[in-house]
Amino acid sequence: MEAKLVPLISQAEISATVSRLSQELDRDYRHRSPVLVGILKGSFIFLADLARSMQTPISNIEFIRLSSYGSSTVSPGKASIIMGLSEEVVKGHDIILVEDIVDTGITTATALDFLNSYQPASLKLCALLDKPARRKVPVTIDYLGFTVPDHFVVGYGIDFDCKYRQLPAIYYILTE
Ligand code: PRP
Repeated sequence: MEAKLVPLISQAEISATVSRLSQELDRDYRHRSPVLVGILKGSFIFLADLARSMQTPISNIEFIRLSSYGSSTVSPGKASIIMGLSEEVVKGHDIILVEDIVDTGITTATALDFLNSYQPASLKLCALLDKPARRKVPVTIDYLGFTVPDHFVVGYGIDFDCKYRQLPAIYYILTE
């Protein structure tokens, strides 16, 4: 089956939005030195661009990885943490969780719960894309790039069948 990629968000629009988000973060974290925590793998390009656009000194950059296809010990509506981080990275620090897309919200909500359990000084969520039509669990997005329709999106870190992460813009997939 051939997949057709339809342009959704251009490189220029992404760049302008990353600048806007970094300015919002610089304003809100003016007197602090936050830790960025990215959710692998999808956030790696967004986090890299966001970090380079921010003026605020970032005290640490960390990554976590979750899987929604977890074991039977994972309750419905929860993802499993397959790569976490140590408590001292989070405890007492200002954490900004960086996510590429909030879809059902399960990945992000689980990540927020996990980070909160380590008692950060503060915890906020910065997400490039929000797809509210698919939401199953509530998530508050403190810093949001774009709201997208209920299509399968790829590019700028987001994959389909492991492909398309390298694309500099965001597309949605039409399959026929
Ligand atoms: C994708 C995406 C988000 C998550 C959102 O990750 O990067 O992390 O799904 O989905 P949700 O809101 O329904 O939980 P995926 O699990 O595909 O892993 P990947 O980032 O490694 O591609």
